[in-house]
Amino acid sequence: MNNPKIVITKQDGIDQLVDPVGEGVLYLEPTGIHQINEVSDFITHKDDKVKYHIHDHGYELFVMTKGSVEAILGGKRCVANVGDMMLIKPYTPHAFRYREDGTVWQELIQQLSLFENERSIARILINCPDKLDDPEFMRLYQSRDGRIDYPEIPVMDTDLVNPAELPGFMCKEDYYKQFCIPGITCTLKYPRWELDGIKEIWEFAAEEGVSVNWGNQYHDSELFVVRKGSVKVEVQGFEPLTAYAEDIIHIPNYTTHRITSLESGTVLHDFNCRHNLFLLMEELSINKRENPGILNGDYFKDLLRRFDCPITEISYPAGGFSFSI
Ligand SMILES: [Fe+2]
Repeated sequence: MNNPKIVITKQDGIDQLVDPVGEGVLYLEPTGIHQINEVSDFITHKDDKVKYHIHDHGYELFVMTKGSVEAILGGKRCVANVGDMMLIKPYTPHAFRYREDGTVWQELIQQLSLFENERSIARILINCPDKLDDPEFMRLYQSRDGRIDYPEIPVMDTDLVNPAELPGFMCKEDYYKQFCIPGITCTLKYPRWELDGIKEIWEFAAEEGVSVNWGNQYHDSELFVVRKGSVKVEVQGFEPLTAYAEDIIHIPNYTTHRITSLESGTVLHDFNCRHNLFLLMEELSINKRENPGILNGDYFKDLLRRFDCPITEISYPAGGFSFSI
């Protein structure tokens, strides 16, 4: 059995390519029947463009990590800056113009192998670059994975609008719903119904010393990216590791693990929340308000079980609220 990397840094790319628009660095290949958890960086130059196009399947999530880009989603245009996210669902027409040299976004892909498509076009660029100008050849290249281009529509000239008007656009500070538990602010960026029912995407901001334990072996892998601060990562069968800002944390399934915030204000994005954390948080917040007397160890144990939550303990350096099952 191969020994997977748990903390993946910017030096740990497993494939790299140049396509006609930019450069890609792959960190994780897609896995499973839903082809989830593909992660790569895409690096571009000022005024590079992606033509207006759709996909008939698959979900592209782009997280801006450097620079800025003009984005057209569903025919509406705005500027995306560092920290903004764009979730592009099937049949959402989209186009981009990069505004700065070295603009980078992170690509998280579901039900689509985007990097495999980029490998194909990188191969065309090397082996038959003249074909890039052959409309019939390129139409067949795109159609083999359900992409249709509409380059004749001059979307780049549409008026700039409020980003909230663009389908799937999520500004850095925006969210669908936010829940606070002691020591951790839990922010739902994209609910399950935006991702074909497969997962939820969360942002967690934790105080120093807060420690979350997944004490049972669980059916799904974990995929976090540290956006701010640092965490200690303890995984069954591995030496303890530290992950810093922009490191990816990839924890294999059926492996107990614990993540501890090492700094106040540490922020993690959770890109593979497969269990029903949103419904769990909703019930917990309602009971905190309406029925606080029932919030004991047995209640938490039952709550976690009913929503398939693999977490077994949250602990705090200075005592206070804590539970363990
Ligand atoms: Fe696309």
